[in-house]
Amino acid sequence: MISKKALVGAGVLASMLMMSSSVLAQTVGFSQIGSESGWRAAETTLTLQQAKDRGIDLKFADAQQKQENQIKALRSFIAQGVDAILIAPVVATGWDSVLEEAKEAEIPVILLDRMVDSSDDLYLTAVGSDLVHEGSVAGQWLVDELAGKDCNVVELQGTTGSSPAIDRKNGFEQAISGHANVKLIRSQTGDFTRTKGKEVMESFLKAEDGGKNICALYAHNDDMAVGAIQAIKEAGLKPGEDILVVSIDAVPDIFQAMAAGEANATVELTPNMAGPAFDALAAYMKDGTMPPKFIQTESKLYTMKDDPQAVYEQKKDLGY
Ligand code: AHR
Repeated sequence: MISKKALVGAGVLASMLMMSSSVLAQTVGFSQIGSESGWRAAETTLTLQQAKDRGIDLKFADAQQKQENQIKALRSFIAQGVDAILIAPVVATGWDSVLEEAKEAEIPVILLDRMVDSSDDLYLTAVGSDLVHEGSVAGQWLVDELAGKDCNVVELQGTTGSSPAIDRKNGFEQAISGHANVKLIRSQTGDFTRTKGKEVMESFLKAEDGGKNICALYAHNDDMAVGAIQAIKEAGLKPGEDILVVSIDAVPDIFQAMAAGEANATVELTPNMAGPAFDALAAYMKDGTMPPKFIQTESKLYTMKDDPQAVYEQKKDLGY
């Protein structure tokens, strides 16, 4: 016969287990921008994996590149009473109302990889890289590589109004300012996609004497660079030689291009934003520990000297 003491003990244990599972097995909503790039695909894969490993029930919403869809997804997460929300915000503006609604519902929001211009008391923390720094690392690489040689640069910007497009542009311009030999002659959005990157590069090449007047391409992500490389080849020029190529993300495809001598440098952005985000969330939910408002991930420059083929082999099965 089971004693009363044992029953009381079992009850305490059961309620302790329930408490710990309510802390660990959270339901989290994740509003993802879409799947515009290889980097974004990897971020999605890693977020789903990180959630699974931690026993989190992740409700995933793909916004197909539209802010209105992200706002709808957030409202639906709030209505469902999720424990927390992750969002990679497509653009920087226009989030105040929905973030206020989440705050009123006491649902912590964590920003992934992009920033918003709302007050920082409307979100718990933001996980991302220093986007200005990434642009300036790319610019500095070009300045050093040119060693004073005159160079006309064309730029493929990310999605208009997104924080990486704004900051990577600023960082690059800061790095080349004061170097009169480096001139930014054309700059247009390629929306972070391969197709648009190719399309816009074709128009740059056409407008600049078939590309003879262009010495370097700076692309705000590798996917646009890969599209542009194709356009440069189709124009009869050699990417990586006739036109230097520097971009951001460090996705496997750019290492293949580097190994083939068709791209020159990339700045790494880790797709694992969810790991630090879930760690911060777990500490916050456990005992109210407030994370810093910005959790910065590392940025690393890779050039052709870094054995791009080997890096490609390491990265190719990581969900990009
Ligand atoms: O916000 C990060 C950027 O968004 C990545 O550099 C790009 O590839 C993506 O789609």
